[in-house]
Amino acid sequence: MTGVAIIVLAAGKGTRMKSALPKVMHRAAGRSLLAHVLHAAAPLSPAEAVVVVGPEMETVAAEARSVFPQARLAVQADRLGTGHAVSMARAEIEAFRGTVLVLYGDVPLISTGSLSRLVALAGDGMAVLGFEAQDPHGYGRLIQDSEGHVIAIREELDASPAERLIRLCNSGIIAIASDLLWQLLPQIGNANAKGEYYLTDLVELAANAGAHCRLAHCPEAEVAGVNDRVQLAAIEAGLQQAYRRRHMLNGATLTAPESVFFAADTVIGQDVTIEPHVVFGPGVTVEDGVEILSFSHLEGAVIGQGARIGPYARLRPGADIGAEAHIGNFVEVKKSVIGKGAKANHLTYIGDARVGAKTNIGAGTITCNYDGYEKHVTDIGANVFVGSNTALVAPVKVGDGASIAAGTVVTRNVPADALAIARAELDLREGWAARYREIKAAKKAARRK
Ligand code: UD1
Ligand code: MG
Repeated sequence: MTGVAIIVLAAGKGTRMKSALPKVMHRAAGRSLLAHVLHAAAPLSPAEAVVVVGPEMETVAAEARSVFPQARLAVQADRLGTGHAVSMARAEIEAFRGTVLVLYGDVPLISTGSLSRLVALAGDGMAVLGFEAQDPHGYGRLIQDSEGHVIAIREELDASPAERLIRLCNSGIIAIASDLLWQLLPQIGNANAKGEYYLTDLVELAANAGAHCRLAHCPEAEVAGVNDRVQLAAIEAGLQQAYRRRHMLNGATLTAPESVFFAADTVIGQDVTIEPHVVFGPGVTVEDGVEILSFSHLEGAVIGQGARIGPYARLRPGADIGAEAHIGNFVEVKKSVIGKGAKANHLTYIGDARVGAKTNIGAGTITCNYDGYEKHVTDIGANVFVGSNTALVAPVKVGDGASIAAGTVVTRNVPADALAIARAELDLREGWAARYREIKAAKKAARRK
């Protein structure tokens, strides 16, 4: 098998998104549209990846490199058509020999299977990915000869009334031998209804050059594009449905699947239970036997075997929750390692901290990690008892087996097995409340007379 290089077309302005952000940077299931496309192509192990963008879309480069470190940008200053866009990428991959796969950055549901079938069919010629459209309006139609070979692609505006009846449409995704591509690309003209350089003209040019153009089919759902935020929401809904199904079939129980939202990269182990109304942001790994209770929000977190999270828990990036730990209601954990079997059951903020195994964090405990300028670390050992309403003013350390009395503001390191207590002495006045009530009641009665 020869190698593959990919060119992703993404220079479209995305006017209908009404956004300052390039269209392909919009996200579905926590992943940009561009990254969805690149992830679909990744299993083909592309040797090269070029993303064609419009001017002032440099942010796209970092996004592309987050998937393919070797990815490069080509800027298409004037949007003169899909053929012109591909020619902008030429300088970046001209040395490459093999199959060039052209993708659209705004078609995120494309599957790896469809792409690899397409690439396999291209061989030393080309192949186009087609689909049967429910409503072919607006798409290029695939024109076949009597033997079913694709001999031309006719754009809607250039099609005859008879051609417009064809429902077999062009997805826009093609695979073509690099030598053939660079030979034919300069021959594409712009004598058509839009005055654009159509990449689709390659099909007729290939036929004239005696090269084959084969057809791969894919379901219409895979080539759904995103032009506005209504379509973006439809893509999101479709992805969520697929992810819920995948996680359930892999052994997770979702009591109300329609209310759970995954990210594209969420990893869920076996025998995980997820209650209603849970949201996964990017970068979450959940190990076997974990329970995630309702209304929890998780992002960039690892949750160890058998841990229990929520209800109403918030795990932020860098939360590393040990096996069998409990993170309860209204507990927020950020960039902290929570040891095996540790518990923070209620109303707590743990940030930039380490909490040792079996340590118990009482209700209302706060790691004061920020001094207004810098973040500081709180290091709590194993088997520590942190009483309710404790403030740990970082940087601070608490040794193994220490106890912190409720209400303490911890401003110095606490040695192992010590007690830390910081409290004004309690003043008890016998009978005070009863006398107070008597005096107040008497005054009130006097006023009424
Ligand atoms: C294109 C195809 C059509 C196909 C349809 C599928 C051509 C001539 N037509 O039409 O056969 O049925 O897609 O959706 O190829 N782009 C650039 N630079 C350009 C023009 C486009 O980067 O100068 C990018 C766009 O950002 C987009 C993709 O190419 O990702 C397709 O462009 P679009 O304008 O949507 O093409 P269509 O006219 O819909
Ligand atoms: Mg289009």
